[in-house]
Order: sequence, then C-alpha cells, then structure tokens
Amino acid sequence: MSAGAAMREDRSAACRDAPGALILTEPVRVAQLWRDGVAQLRAAGIEHAQREVTWLLEEALGVSRLAIHADGIESVGGHAAEQARRLFARRAQHEPVQYLLGTQEFCGLTFEVTPAVLIPRPETELLVEEALRVCGSQPSARVVDVCTGSGCIAVAIARARHDAMLWATDLSQQAVYVARRNVSRNRVEARVTVFQGDLLAPLASAGLAGSVDVLVSNPPYIAAWEWPTMPPDVAEFEPRLALDGGPDGLRAHRQIADLAPRWLRPGGWLILEIGQKQSVPLAEYIQASGAYGDVQVRQDFRGIDRVVSAQRKG
Ligand SMILES: C[S@@+](CC[C@H](N)C(=O)[O-])C[C@H]1O[C@@H](n2cnc3c(N)ncnc32)[C@H](O)[C@@H]1O
Repeated sequence: MSAGAAMREDRSAACRDAPGALILTEPVRVAQLWRDGVAQLRAAGIEHAQREVTWLLEEALGVSRLAIHADGIESVGGHAAEQARRLFARRAQHEPVQYLLGTQEFCGLTFEVTPAVLIPRPETELLVEEALRVCGSQPSARVVDVCTGSGCIAVAIARARHDAMLWATDLSQQAVYVARRNVSRNRVEARVTVFQGDLLAPLASAGLAGSVDVLVSNPPYIAAWEWPTMPPDVAEFEPRLALDGGPDGLRAHRQIADLAPRWLRPGGWLILEIGQKQSVPLAEYIQASGAYGDVQVRQDFRGIDRVVSAQRKG
C-alpha cells in the first residue's frame, strides 16, 4: 500500500472509530498543520522554519511532500497529526532537526545520527578532501580516523578510495555502535573497523605501528571561552564529550599530535580539524615537537582556518 493510500485509510478508519476515539483520530488538514508548525518554529527563533516543518511533516506522515501533492492528500488522521505536532514541539525546544529525523548527509552519503554522536558538519568535508589529497594515487592506503563519532569521515574516505583500509576509534561506546551501523549502511564493512577506546590506544591490537599513511581526526575543540556563545541546539543537545576541548579547545589535538608519530610511517600525514583561533597555537605546537616537517593550514568555504596538516619526518 502506498503511503498516500495508508493515510487515506487512516482517515476513513478515523471516521469508523468509536465516538470516544474519534476525538483523537479526527482528520486534520495538512495545510493547517504545516502553517501551525511554521508559526511555532518561527516564534521559537528557528531560522529555516518552513523547510524544517516540511521535513518534520514528511517524517511524521511517512510520506514525501511530492506524494502529498501527487496523491492530493488534504487531510491526515489525528494520530499522524499528533506525531507531527510532537516533532514541531521538540524542534521548538531547539532539539536539532537531524536528531528528530535520524539522519544527516555528509559527502553525498547518508548517515544515521543519534544524540550519542555529533551531527556531521559540512566544513568537515574539507578534512576528507585533504585526506584524499595526501593519499594521492598510493595503492591500498592505510587510514586511521580518531574520534570517529558517526563514522562519517572514515566511511566517506572508504567510499571514495575503494582500495583503502581504515581503522576508526571513539571513546563513547554508544557512538561506536552508531559508527558501525553507518559502516554497514554504506557497505564498507570489509574495509572499515571501528574500535571503542581512548584516542589511538585501540590501534595497538591492529598491529599498525609505523605503517599508517594518514591519521585524520576531528577531535572535540570547543574552548572554555566559547561555551557562553554556543547556540542551544549545540550546547544542550549534542554530546559534551564530542565538543569539550578543554581550556583552549586543543587538549585532544596535542595528545594526538604527540601519539601519532608512533603510528605514522615516515612521510605519513597527520590531519586535524580545528576551531576558531586555534591554527597558530596548534601549528606552533606541532612544529615544536620536531617530529613533523612542514605544517600547513587550510581554510574552509567561509574563509576560516579549519584544517592543520603535518607530514611525519622520515
Ligand atoms: C567533534 S566529534 C567528531 C565526530 C566525527 N568525527 C565528525 O567529524 O562528525 C568528536 C568525537 O570524539 C570522541 N572523543 C572524545 N574524546 C575522545 C577520546 N579521548 N578518545 C576517542 N574519542 C574521543 C567523541 O565521543 C566524539 O564522537
């Protein structure tokens, strides 16, 4: 049965319901539901209220906007309307729309997201681009993604390089479960292994010492001074473990830069995502370690320093 037919059946079922149940399942006009949702989200200060209400409506009704028009669906059952209203209310409390929908696009692929993982950001695609650039034409590249979260970076690299082998780590067991599901969902389970553990520690069991071509990471990098400026969608809903980078936001970056030379092959690359005001202190720290050659900084599409790369001396 099509979703449209299901909705029409829901509506006719509502009409057959016992009088007591009729109140709950009384048909509701889709256009009115949409207008109410937009007004509610606008009042809550949500910027893209129309677009988001459309997505939430599609999610709640289990049918696309196109199908609503094509099937001429004007009303839906009360249960479906209630489900839509519940989603609007949660979004009005600033719960990220991606957690409500359960997915986010990244590098043209679809990833499951839950409140256990950071929602992949478009600027992180630059990290993937940089990893692919330094891999060049090298066959069977060995790539490690530390702090993998949803697994978006590891999976995107695996999908772009069909001969690459990848290992990913995260401290959060719940995030590891999500990452493993994303690995399967994107059909790269033969080449991506996800470990639970602290930074690079899980690599010991993979026997990778001195052989990694690229070590990529988007570690937590919100500095203490930034917390008061964080939007509620982020500060109140995304995992603190994924965000909190210590006093200057670079705690994990320094640890990774210290640990990476043991795992990278000579000439291998360390590639780290950074936040505001972090490129200079991190580049200086990496340079001062003496383990790496040139340190490079790349800017994202908004002109903000976003990626620091360094090649292991060999
Ligand atoms: C900024 S999120 C990045 C997630 C994902 N790579 C992305 O780019 O969307 C940082 C991730 O690091 C993980 N994390 C925090 N501390 C860690 C540690 N000591 N060892 C491993 N993972 C850690 C968090 O659980 C979170 O998933």
